[in-house]
Amino acid sequence: MRALKRLAFRDRLRSLSSARKSRIVLALDITNPSTNRLRREVRDLLSRTAESIVALKINYHLMLPFSKKELTEIITVAHSHNIEVIADMKLNDIAPTNINVTSYLWEVGFDAVIANPIAGFSGGLDVVLEDAHRKGKGVIVLVYMSNSGAKETYGLTVLSEGKETSLYHEFLRRALSWGADGVVVGGTRLDVLRGISGIVAHRVDIFSPGIGVQGGSAKEAVEAGADYLIVGRSVVRAADPTKAAIEIRSDSWIVQQKGTRSLP
Ligand code: XMP
Repeated sequence: MRALKRLAFRDRLRSLSSARKSRIVLALDITNPSTNRLRREVRDLLSRTAESIVALKINYHLMLPFSKKELTEIITVAHSHNIEVIADMKLNDIAPTNINVTSYLWEVGFDAVIANPIAGFSGGLDVVLEDAHRKGKGVIVLVYMSNSGAKETYGLTVLSEGKETSLYHEFLRRALSWGADGVVVGGTRLDVLRGISGIVAHRVDIFSPGIGVQGGSAKEAVEAGADYLIVGRSVVRAADPTKAAIEIRSDSWIVQQKGTRSLP
């Protein structure tokens, strides 16, 4: 795997995905008041699911209790299983602050970060993208979230260069022009997912959360254009996480057709 490190994040993930016939990004959403027990749980979960997943997504609630050393240890364990590790920061600040955050993430071994496009490019995400790509890391941009309230914001009609469009189309346009590696589009909104995948073709990878507990279907999300599925509770809280991951992996290993429509 570490030989794969010479490739860019997107290429590493694609290569792992086809080797493993999997599209699963496992959301490591476990909690435990004892960091020692938490570390054991992470190791156990990884050893039970590693064969079926391509990446691990780690949120704030796991980063906060862990020291730098502990976080590095978890990421090293994931890497030893040939798994990429994504930091779900929904990064959203001015460039100097963003770069402080991503410098830390790259230092502990993360391979990619999820960022919010709201701060914009200049003085927001410009240096993050440039620095990440120089280091073979990935930046995945939010385009449409999976929760029901996402429509209130991402679905807003906005004016862009004098033309009416949806905020999520504007975020998509930006993600493409910035050279982002991926976009997050909820797997709970198949119409949005289908529309977006019809536009982006394979210029950027689509990561879809909301599968299982939030109501999204793995197979339908992939048919609608998701390249990767972000899955948490359906695996982490399953009585048998190995079996749950294998089932989602095989349900979602189907070939997709993507279009090449232009942005509205
Ligand atoms: P479940 O248990 O619902 O967990 O499978 C989903 C995981 O994905 C995160 N999540 C999102 N992350 N954009 C994101 O970047 C989203 O729209 C989104 N929706 C859910 C959530 O934090 C959990 O880790």
